Amino acid sequence: MRPVRAADAPAILAAHRSAADMARQGTVTTPAEAEEQVAWLLAADRRATAIADGSDHLVGLVAITVDPKNRSGWFFYWLHAEHRGLGLGARAAAAVAERALRPVADGGWGLERLELGHRANNLASGAVARAAGFVHEGTERGKFLIDDERVDVLTYGRLRTDPVPDTAGLPWGP
Ligand SMILES: CC(C)(COP(=O)(O)OP(=O)(O)OC[C@H]1O[C@@H](n2cnc3c(N)ncnc32)[C@H](O)[C@@H]1OP(=O)(O)O)[C@@H](O)C(=O)NCCC(=O)NCCS
Repeated sequence: MRPVRAADAPAILAAHRSAADMARQGTVTTPAEAEEQVAWLLAADRRATAIADGSDHLVGLVAITVDPKNRSGWFFYWLHAEHRGLGLGARAAAAVAERALRPVADGGWGLERLELGHRANNLASGAVARAAGFVHEGTERGKFLIDDERVDVLTYGRLRTDPVPDTAGLPWGP
């Protein structure tokens, strides 16, 4: 795990091209859109962490859009399709949530609340959220219109004071 950098744009494009469900993670279909996406991820109010393989090549992302006034953050994640189902999403999300909620004095990012939402039929996303210590908080009924069907969104939150999950976080690089 390491911060996202500008040079990750081609890997981000490859990940977006790897699965149809990536369309809901932003429009990244060309190298130019991938560069725009990296610039968006590197904005001041965002913390974007790459899940990198042994060659330091980005294969996934866990990111937070920070709301400094409320010391909270909107949490999101994705994996290149070839790297899913290996526990990486859960372990990366656990590591980023732990660091985000850790006080600044202890080397963390000082947030006190993290939140996320996922479509009710995205079972993998819910499993990742729970593995990273998030608690189901509610349901936004019929939030999205997808293929002419209204789809519920399940909302999750994790407070600094919530129990730490058992999930072993992925290690941070230098
Ligand atoms: C959601 C996503 C990040 C999961 O990443 P992953 O690395 O494949 O997930 P993991 O291997 O860590 O699995 C975590 C849990 O999800 C479960 N899971 C994984 N894929 C699943 C699937 N297709 N259906 C049901 N459960 C699934 C695993 O069994 C595991 O549960 P467990 O801990 O109870 O065994 C990945 O599927 C993805 O990138 N999806 C597209 C983008 C997306 O939907 N992001 C979330 C937006 S809210």
